[in-house]
Amino acid sequence: MNIEMRGISKSFGENQVLLGVDFNVRSGEVHALMGENGAGKSTLMNILTGLHRADGGSIVVDGTERVFASPREAERNGVAFIHQELNIWPNLSILENLFLMNPPKTALGTLDFAAMRRRAEEACAELGITLPLDAPAEECSVGQQQMTEILRVLMLHAQIVIMDEPTAALTERETEVLFGVMKRMKAAGVGIVYISHRMEEVFAVSDQVTVMRDGGAVSTLPTAQTDMGRVVRDMVGRSLTEYYPARTRTPGEVIFAIHNMHSRDVFTDVSFTLREGEILGVAGLMGAGRTEIMRALFGVDRKDGAQIRLHGEEIKIDTPRDAIRAGIGFITENRKTEGLILDFSIGDNISLPCIDRFAAHHIVKAKEEDAFITSLAERLGVKAASTEVSAGTLSGGNQQKVVIAKWVGMQPSILIMDEPTRGIDVGAKRDIYDLMNELTEAGVSIIMVSSELPEVIGMSDRILVVHEGRIAGELSREEATQEKIITLATGGE
Ligand SMILES: Nc1ncnc2c1ncn2[C@@H]1O[C@H](COP(=O)(O)OP(=O)(O)OP(=O)(O)O)[C@@H](O)[C@H]1O
Ligand SMILES: [Mg+2]
Repeated sequence: MNIEMRGISKSFGENQVLLGVDFNVRSGEVHALMGENGAGKSTLMNILTGLHRADGGSIVVDGTERVFASPREAERNGVAFIHQELNIWPNLSILENLFLMNPPKTALGTLDFAAMRRRAEEACAELGITLPLDAPAEECSVGQQQMTEILRVLMLHAQIVIMDEPTAALTERETEVLFGVMKRMKAAGVGIVYISHRMEEVFAVSDQVTVMRDGGAVSTLPTAQTDMGRVVRDMVGRSLTEYYPARTRTPGEVIFAIHNMHSRDVFTDVSFTLREGEILGVAGLMGAGRTEIMRALFGVDRKDGAQIRLHGEEIKIDTPRDAIRAGIGFITENRKTEGLILDFSIGDNISLPCIDRFAAHHIVKAKEEDAFITSLAERLGVKAASTEVSAGTLSGGNQQKVVIAKWVGMQPSILIMDEPTRGIDVGAKRDIYDLMNELTEAGVSIIMVSSELPEVIGMSDRILVVHEGRIAGELSREEATQEKIITLATGGE
């Protein structure tokens, strides 16, 4: 199959998102699509697969002009899309999610659960993964949900598969499994569009790279004939030399101390301290318990016990409300279910948590609120037509920026950030690092959970490494290396 998109343009209202984009993908080729947050990558693929209609341009499939009327029709014609934002029904089981679109039926026309289970188990076995098929999706990790979406699409045996940031939530092992599958698909003649902000991955798996900027395709080159520097330049229009800004603040006194926090079967004896203006990195493999520790600390999940001291005084955190009252903020890894109200505007998402500040005598001080929202959105470089548009229409990376803006606006003194730059483009990442520096400069302490080792090493004053629900070790900024972190994270000494 050979798909050529020619001169595709698209506006959402006033917002011109694509301006005459050319892009093609053919059988047996991995074509990477890169570009800043909001450049139009997901939109271009949504047009190809019939979710949106282009305003101009044409799509030519094997020599014939075609428009798929809906994602289902695209799938039926062999073009399938693994979405960036998880396309999962939280209250249905993993098994039901896998077969939602085309469930096998018995001769009587009822759902054939036995056949579903058999096919799902075969597919899992073929990939060498296990998924809790009967668990409601909402009880599964983001990685398991992502793997479900990947498996669902793979079972369709499409000829062209689009993957929109498939590895953002996967463990290293799951990522390797996916790369293995991609290799086999390629050998079998499947064409793949691979969207990712992870430069190393793109260079490892792709044959071609197209870079988009501001709604246009800037360059298309064979991967072997380009390099990371060139791609970054095409993406952001400048070269980024110093990737991580220098830390400017020396941490002060210990302000927050956790002693022996534990939760049966999940984590044990978690003890650590946090200093004023410090960035404490938390590294570890996915599934080691980092997110669980943070959720329990913040009061989202229950814990079996802990002594928590804030400025020397013992406090209790049993609910998120307790945590927020103590001045703690929590940017979660799952923005879709925990971070944002997608139907609300960008502005309301940012100002709602601190609406009290703008409500005097029940009259909201609209001007002040507007100024507050605008300054935060600008500081984070949220790319949108205005702050009135609903958060659900933003690109993935821009939604993440709104989540960060919301919590920064609450002016916490301790900010927990779980995978803060996931899905964020290289240029905007730097903005977030600068913001972290600014916050710590003003005395805010940050706990940053991250799976990107260069980020942990580049930004942290001190690093905790979590392994199987325990803190396996602590490294200072000076002694931290990738090797040392990996050794601790995998249970080595
Ligand atoms: N349904 C929609 N309604 C209105 N605007 C939209 C809609 N979908 C996308 N947009 C806008 O189109 C632009 C491009 O978004 P798109 O999701 O294609 O970016 P992207 O390149 O995939 O970015 P990211 O790397 O952050 O995922 C953004 O400005 C976004 O706000
Ligand atoms: Mg996108």
